[in-house]
Parts: sequence; structure tokens; C-alpha cells
Amino acid sequence: MSNYAERNSEGHHQIRKNDPPPIAHLKREHHKFRKLVDRINAARATARKKELAAELHRLLASHIALEEELFYPVVRAKGLVDEVNEGLVEHDIQRFLSAQIEAMDGDEELYGTRLGVLGEMLVHHIDEEDDEMFLDAKRLKVDFAALNAAMEAREDELDEEYEETGRMSTPELDREVQQRNAV
Ligand SMILES: [Fe+2]
Ligand SMILES: [Fe+2]
Repeated sequence: MSNYAERNSEGHHQIRKNDPPPIAHLKREHHKFRKLVDRINAARATARKKELAAELHRLLASHIALEEELFYPVVRAKGLVDEVNEGLVEHDIQRFLSAQIEAMDGDEELYGTRLGVLGEMLVHHIDEEDDEMFLDAKRLKVDFAALNAAMEAREDELDEEYEETGRMSTPELDREVQQRNAV
């Protein structure tokens, strides 16, 4: 059984006093992901796995939207191009797997495997963001207060929409994803 949550209090995964608010915000969500992946890996009953997978799907959609719509473009413009590009490609794979999992009943042979691979990839990805991208981003001259306000407003909007409709719409982001994956 995985115990990824232990990492939440270790190294750069910890939320530090000098973390700019947007980075603390994203790290706090990373903590939730590690705990959730542990719970998914410990779950036995299909119904329970599906319930936790739905929670992961929702958190992931919102987290990726905040990063790709707001955080990534700001730090990319200040020079973190390679880290952001790697993040985008990893998000695409997470999105793909998460959509497959959401479309499954849960009793298919590959259901648990897809969920397990998504969890492993996701933890690798957020560990890298904490250890590399966020560490470099902290040193940039960015209006972190404005970025944080924009992220919080966007998160509220996505949450509200989800509560009302059961989905989150990110049309501009969807177009960008489609364009970069149209190979
Ligand atoms: Fe990410
Ligand atoms: Fe992240």
C-alpha cells in the first residue's frame, strides 16, 4: 500500500512560510492528491474506488485549470519554459487517463490498472512541480498577490459551476489542448 501522504511534511512538499500564496495554494492541493491516491490504492470495493476516482477527476480538472489557465502562463513568460512544457504534456496524459476512467463501469479488467497508473503518474508529476518548478518560480519577480486572487476567483467559479451542473467548463483551455494534441 502506498503512503504518499507522508511526503506532505517532507522537503519541498511542505508549505513554507515564505511560499508565495499561489504556490502554497497549489501545494495544499498536492497534499490532497497524495492523500486521495493513498485512499484509492487502499480501497477494495469497486463502488468505493469509483467514488474516490470521481473525487480525483473533479480535483484534477480544477487543479489543472488553475495551473494551465493562470499559474503556468505567468511563470512561463518569466522563463520557466521547459518545466511548463513538461507539465503540460504530463497534464495531457492525466486528462486522458482520467477521462477513460470516468467513462468506465469499474468492473473492466483495466479499470484498476488505469487508476493505479494515473495515481503513480500524478504523484510523480506533483513531486516534480514542488521540487523543481515551484522552487524556481519562487525566485521570479511575479505579482503573486494578483495571481493568487485570480486563481481563487477562478476556483470559486469552477466550484460553483460544478455544484450546480456536475461539470466544469474550460472552453479556451479545451481548445488549446485540442490544438497541441492535433498531431
Ligand atoms: Fe500540474
Ligand atoms: Fe500541480
